[in-house]
Amino acid sequence: MRPNAIIRPELPTDRAAIWNVNHLAFGSDAEANLVDALRDGGFLAVSLVAEIDGSAVGHILFSRLKISGRAEILESLSLAPMAVLPEFQRQLIGTQLLTQGLATCRAMGHKTVLVLGHPEFYTKFGFSAELARPLESPFGGGEAWMALELEPDALKDVVGTVEFSPPFGTFE
Ligand SMILES: CC(C)(COP(=O)(O)OP(=O)(O)OC[C@H]1O[C@@H](n2cnc3c(N)ncnc32)[C@H](O)[C@@H]1OP(=O)(O)O)[C@@H](O)C(=O)NCCC(=O)NCCS
Repeated sequence: MRPNAIIRPELPTDRAAIWNVNHLAFGSDAEANLVDALRDGGFLAVSLVAEIDGSAVGHILFSRLKISGRAEILESLSLAPMAVLPEFQRQLIGTQLLTQGLATCRAMGHKTVLVLGHPEFYTKFGFSAELARPLESPFGGGEAWMALELEPDALKDVVGTVEFSPPFGTFE
């Protein structure tokens, strides 16, 4: 039977558990440390935890970034990282985190989200590489670089360069 996860905002007491989820899911410290740096730097927009039987098994983070367009600067969100503990993967917990995460971002009035990730996963939620093509990223990404409009046409005619928040500059 599929475990029933509760999706909720992160709490101050979740810091170590979130670090651990990212560390184990990615098999590296880099993403876990990025989460701490984004939080400590004040760049978090939405951070949700998936909890089963009182333990964190998944996490999703949206942080602020800017798109420098031809005539204006647009506020947007970076979706990164998201992680589910290996033993809980492919049980739709990531789907729950992303669905609720995007609904929360939309409810907060955010208009667009950008992600560099698995195309086969994110396109199921409407992310599109075509939409992200006019948005130059320092990380490149090809088909893995995708955008989602939370408001219709929010990226219509937008051409620009994406400026990630400083913690991404030290991300390797
Ligand atoms: C990606 C991740 C967050 C998805 O969470 P999840 O709970 O396993 O996802 P769900 O069960 O809701 O959805 C499963 C779908 O995710 C995609 N997916 C899951 N793991 C994947 C992987 N390692 N590579 C590519 N796609 C993957 C597939 O489309 C899969 O569908 P399928 O089972 O029909 O093939 C999770 O697998 C994870 O933490 N992976 C390691 C860290 C990572 O890569 N994070 C994302 C960075 S972009």
